[in-house]
Amino acid sequence: MASSWRLLVQGLTSLVFLCAHADEYVRPPPSPLVLTAHGKPASHPQQVHISIVGEKNMRISWVTDDRTRPSVVEYGTSPGKYTASATGDHTTYSYFLYKSGAIHHATIGPLEPSTTYYYQCGKAGDEFTLRTPPARLPVEFVVIGDLGQTGWTASTLSHIAGGGDYDMLLLPGDLSYADTQQPLWDTFGRLVQPLASARPWMVTEGNHEIETLPVVEFAPFVAYNARWRMPHEESGSASNLYYSFDAAGGAAHVVMLGSYADFGEGSPQRAWLERDLAGVDRRRTPWLLALLHAPWDNTNQAHQGEGERMRRAMESLLYEARVDVVFSGHVHAYERFTRIYDNEADSRGPMYITIGDGGNREGLALKFIKGHKSAHLSEFREASFGHGRLRIVNETTAVWTWHRNDDQFATVRDEVWLHSLAAGEPAAAAGGRPVDEL
Ligand SMILES: *[C@@H]1O[C@H](CO)[C@@H](O)[C@H](O)[C@H]1NC(C)=O
Ligand SMILES: [Fe+2]
Repeated sequence: MASSWRLLVQGLTSLVFLCAHADEYVRPPPSPLVLTAHGKPASHPQQVHISIVGEKNMRISWVTDDRTRPSVVEYGTSPGKYTASATGDHTTYSYFLYKSGAIHHATIGPLEPSTTYYYQCGKAGDEFTLRTPPARLPVEFVVIGDLGQTGWTASTLSHIAGGGDYDMLLLPGDLSYADTQQPLWDTFGRLVQPLASARPWMVTEGNHEIETLPVVEFAPFVAYNARWRMPHEESGSASNLYYSFDAAGGAAHVVMLGSYADFGEGSPQRAWLERDLAGVDRRRTPWLLALLHAPWDNTNQAHQGEGERMRRAMESLLYEARVDVVFSGHVHAYERFTRIYDNEADSRGPMYITIGDGGNREGLALKFIKGHKSAHLSEFREASFGHGRLRIVNETTAVWTWHRNDDQFATVRDEVWLHSLAAGEPAAAAGGRPVDEL
């Protein structure tokens, strides 16, 4: 009797669960911070992450609490057998009462493309494994903004890890949400290490990286610039807040813009962007992508109009260069627009995608504005945590998918195929469709 009662209850529970599931995605409640401890000797490297430097080199970045450790990386193509080494340098910073560990950066290479390397940092601690990106297409980018370090971040990271292989991660700003509490940069570095030590993480800054405080901290981006050094010198930029790089042997060029660096007429960023775009030969580089933090197009109630000044200053440059896709973050939801120029659908303009739904502690931006003047340009919008993937298949075709964090499955909710704008022909996005997975 007892067991048949239990079976009945179980049956009813599953039925209720299935109905809820089939009906509408039930959004999870706020999730507490996930604080990742070090738990190893002070000499051991932690917060290891990697980023590409030019076509053949990789910067390895890590922190040691022991500030006397060497900034050396030993590496090779077999586990435990290091046939090469590179020595870099380290920096530290102070922020109010906080003093950072030694933040090491060393550039290794030249490396072979599409190759697995094993490496150890500072002659101590764990061995890490990375794979270099391919020298030609196809290439797959994971794109995710506004990551933070909550249970939802952990869920997003596990969906990225379990959602199939990829070559590189692009992050359009708002990393740790340390928000002046510097130890949260360390816990964030440890949380992302399993992914960020294995594939290049290419990031640009968001507003949460600024971290100025009245009286005690006047300088912006102190922690961000020390910890997340990006290849700006290599792309002719004088600032870590904007830079560019090539992927797939130059078949894709990625421009990382700074929403929080000057972008107006006469600004260094604008001059740099003009030079950078002028150097792109679309016959060699069929794919041109841009990332920035505060979206230029946005029908969510959150952060309305915050990207407008930058849009007015820079949209025509990206349009004239026939940028294929612009990714942004800031708004904690997913939204995909059609190709746009100057607030109108334009088949020669970039497709705009907001992917600020990484999982940070501020929660989701739930309200989209129904009668927004750009609502007719917005093709898919949903306030759920998740991540995106851009797979560039060949010189003409790419596919973008948005993966929502459902309880245990990586769920593709939105998918769109794109044609490169390089050919100069109007090339509307083909076949955008919300994917009904249930
Ligand atoms: C590129 O890939 C698409 C999708 O697989 C295919 O239809 C197209 O023919 C390919 N183009 C070239 C130039 O290989
Ligand atoms: Fe933001």
